[in-house]
Amino acid sequence: MKSYDIGVIPGDGTGPEVTEEAIKALNAISEVGGVQFNLVHYDIGGERYLSKGELLPDTVLSELREMDAVLLGAIGHPKVNPGILEKEILLKLRFELDLYINLRPVILLPGVYTPIKDKGPEDIDFVVVRENTEGLYTGSGGFLKKGTKNEVAIQESINTRGGVERCIRFAFEYCRRRNKEKRLTLCGKTNVLTYAFDLWERVFNECGRDYPDIETDYAHVDAICMWMVKNPEFFDVIVTDNMFGDIITDLGAMIQGGMGIAAGGNINPEGVAMFEPIGGSAPKYTGLNKINPLAAIAAVQMMLDYLEEETLSAILLGAIKRVVKDDVKSLSAGKMGYGTREVGDLVARYIRSTD
Ligand code: IPM
Ligand code: MN
Repeated sequence: MKSYDIGVIPGDGTGPEVTEEAIKALNAISEVGGVQFNLVHYDIGGERYLSKGELLPDTVLSELREMDAVLLGAIGHPKVNPGILEKEILLKLRFELDLYINLRPVILLPGVYTPIKDKGPEDIDFVVVRENTEGLYTGSGGFLKKGTKNEVAIQESINTRGGVERCIRFAFEYCRRRNKEKRLTLCGKTNVLTYAFDLWERVFNECGRDYPDIETDYAHVDAICMWMVKNPEFFDVIVTDNMFGDIITDLGAMIQGGMGIAAGGNINPEGVAMFEPIGGSAPKYTGLNKINPLAAIAAVQMMLDYLEEETLSAILLGAIKRVVKDDVKSLSAGKMGYGTREVGDLVARYIRSTD
């Protein structure tokens, strides 16, 4: 039997609850698909940090490197100051495992509410390829005269030729494989960030010559925010830097139905990949059986795609679609008309049923 080693990091807050439902779906997939998933759990997160002072030990990192994929619940703890867990766990995972692509589909499923009037599933169907290891996220910069009246704070955006090129090439390849509009939009800010996005634009145009079948397009990030709301149907694949990608994918998550459904993949195309619901740890819903597990389940679906288990991915997507169309009243926590576990049960049941 085919088998995959999957690292599981349930993490903090509602992370463990949604991860449990994601695993429920994975077990059902394993049954119907005849593939085996060997799960290795890691108790990385705020609790471990508070009790043991440990963040992300090197031993865990080297084990994760050998996995076929990693599933992450959520990282973030109300008793830990902002920045620590994000930097030392989530960003460290991205950087150390060189997960240089953050793939974030913005796809509205039939039956899901979008706040954009008169737009439906045929209009909201695009993917953001976010660079995931450079830009403003590298931690480059510092303070001068900290705490004085003349304090200076510098935060630099690092863009390397190699880092930009590998991301843009991935986006072209992805756009070709996706085989929809075959249009790749570069999201930048060439009118102000005249160094960083000059590099991005040059590399984009150069790479574009190798993909004559892909239409290239450019838009400033502020305009993209406007178009994503006004004309989302225009987009097929958008490629952008780390910071802009972070911002526009929260907007994307909202137009596809919210954090209850939005998932993403942190991918090293030559190495390992980590899949996550893109919402946070939602501490106020922890332990209440109220949080929507569908985003974590959608992360499993992305993982199956990445593992090239297309048939199984399609089965899981079918189950998710059925739940959002026929069962849940809303995708928001506490308003689903079902509990977290019940939504997970429905998905698992639809995976197992053939009708
Ligand atoms: C995300 C998150 C992270 C980011 C935070 C938690 C560091 O917002 O995955 O989008 O900024 O990348
Ligand atoms: Mn974000």
